[in-house]
Amino acid sequence: MIKWPARIELAQLPTPITKLERFSKRFKDTTIWIKRDELTGTEVSGNKIRKLEFCIAEAQNQSCDTLITCGGIQSNHCRATAVLGARLGMKVHLILRGEKPDMPEGNLLMDYLCGAQISYLSQGQWRGHEDLATELQALYASQDRKAFFIPVGASDEVGLWGYIKASEELKQNFQDLKMEPEYIVTATGSGGTQGGLIVGGELLGMGSQVVAFNVSDDAAYFEKKIREDVTLWKQRYNQEFDEDKMKIRTVEGYVGPGYGVAGPEIFDSIAELASSEGIFLDPVYTGKAFHGMVTELQKGDAGALRGAKNVVFIHTGGLFGVFPQQQNFRFG
Ligand SMILES: Cc1ncc(COP(=O)(O)O)c(C=O)c1O
Repeated sequence: MIKWPARIELAQLPTPITKLERFSKRFKDTTIWIKRDELTGTEVSGNKIRKLEFCIAEAQNQSCDTLITCGGIQSNHCRATAVLGARLGMKVHLILRGEKPDMPEGNLLMDYLCGAQISYLSQGQWRGHEDLATELQALYASQDRKAFFIPVGASDEVGLWGYIKASEELKQNFQDLKMEPEYIVTATGSGGTQGGLIVGGELLGMGSQVVAFNVSDDAAYFEKKIREDVTLWKQRYNQEFDEDKMKIRTVEGYVGPGYGVAGPEIFDSIAELASSEGIFLDPVYTGKAFHGMVTELQKGDAGALRGAKNVVFIHTGGLFGVFPQQQNFRFG
């Protein structure tokens, strides 16, 4: 029995799971399914809301009225936090990496519309973002407010619960479909989705292997980060869990030119899935992971998804990140 911590229901759940009827035809033996976590909401679409259900419950338990979090200028996580803060009547302060643009677009536009306060740190200053968060907490305390800090991507021992909980939903999906996929595929950026799926799968005795495609850093980084988060999670929630059983599989080679920067093959993959199935990926996370998954499937037994009859791709959202990169699509 899993001992769940406090959670506030914010996401539209359960999300649907869809078979890619037309797209899967290119594979003789494999069917691709999509777990539609881009449908967890409209403004809050994507994976972050599942983690934030636990993080914000924790903030409220600590009587906090303000949320401080951080990420890139086009952070989906920061946008989800800004939206939820507005929805719950909490103040949100975002620390964003990069220069303030003349004209906010995509996720950043939504951050401003939701009334988030924003501090910008240059790439060089970014190392100090947690120190700035601590200073802001002190500043808010002097104004009689109490601020709760959520780290990048809500990937910590609290946010880990999001995809442990989602694993329950997946298990139910697989039972309903009478199908147990060999692989569950996700993009990984700060590690919380990947970590939660691995822990959830293990706790619930699921047979599918979690395979992540990194969009930043490398496999060694995610191995370390997930093990650290799981250790803290065990301590904080007094959970019995044998972390030696965890198989952390991160497939490298699909970051492309860098985090947030994609090559033409990613924009082509986005257009291909949109035209064949009406499902939109994004160029920062899901487009790279989906392209990586398809490329590995095409390698057959030589690829990372050997023997895949059914693969479930977790669509973690990111739609608003498409628009600031619209100039990279090729038409005609
Ligand atoms: C759309 C999208 N997909 C995937 C991820 C990666 O999830 P995680 O940060 O839990 O590794 C993110 C994180 O920022 C995201 O915004």
